[in-house]
Amino acid sequence: MTVRAFVIGHPIAHSRSPKIHGTWLESYAIDGSYEAIDVAPEALPEFFGRLRAGEFAGGNVTIPLKEPVFALCDDVDPLARTIGAVNTLLADRDGVHGFNTDFMGFLGNLDQAAPGWSAGLDEVIVLGAGGAARAVLVALRERGVGRIHLLNRSPGKAEALAEAITAPIVAGPLDTFAALAPNAGLVINTTSAGMHGNPPLDVPLDRLPPTALVTDIVYVPLETPLLAEARRLGLRTVDGLGMLLHQAVPGFEAWFGVRPDVTPELRARIEATL
Ligand code: ATR
Repeated sequence: MTVRAFVIGHPIAHSRSPKIHGTWLESYAIDGSYEAIDVAPEALPEFFGRLRAGEFAGGNVTIPLKEPVFALCDDVDPLARTIGAVNTLLADRDGVHGFNTDFMGFLGNLDQAAPGWSAGLDEVIVLGAGGAARAVLVALRERGVGRIHLLNRSPGKAEALAEAITAPIVAGPLDTFAALAPNAGLVINTTSAGMHGNPPLDVPLDRLPPTALVTDIVYVPLETPLLAEARRLGLRTVDGLGMLLHQAVPGFEAWFGVRPDVTPELRARIEATL
């Protein structure tokens, strides 16, 4: 029997998930399908009815449904609760289970692109305190980094987030970057600055030690102005596309029973759609 999975959102046409999962279904010759389904928030209960009836093994959830699905799941993983968003559903005889795989995507991307990145890592700077920052903070906490400086344009939001997530987080404004940079081994941009045509953040990357790693979770453009500047300075960089690819791994494994690889061929295929 064909195992079916989905991505739901509203709108949904822009999602790259069908291409990612479709590539894996093809390369592992799995009798499965992965389809994009437009589900408006008010149609979510009806969709969960189909899910409970056994039509699908599970699927992904995207904007604007990542929070509304909480109330409909039978249980939600504690880390997804901390992140405040469910992006992956698994349906079985016990009901519908909600997870968040974004933090695993963040870790999987760095593990593949910069092996050993977290060994002995002490100070980290996270730029931005929105929804995307939450998954990054949970990821860093899971990996046990020493201290996280959470810098945001609106420092109050960083302070609130530092309180909400139990981890060694120190909140502050963006202009403390210069003073903190000399001790930072890793800088992560989670803000939407630098995306599409948005002006980039003005942070002095030249204050970082030469061994520092700079990563951006934005992947449009693939090389953000921040990454371009880091590269120009000779720092190591990791772009955000890998996070998108790696966040898809745990879901695929749960629905189809095969842990898929993030290969250069998959990356090239998705890169071609950017
Ligand atoms: P997401 O869920 O994708 O993280 P968000 O919750 O809207 O999106 O958060 C966007 C983040 O980018 C915030 O940290 C925001 O800073 P504020 O909290 O001060 O709004 C940050 N951001 C967006 N544009 C920015 C800019 N031009 N300069 C600095 N920070 C910016």
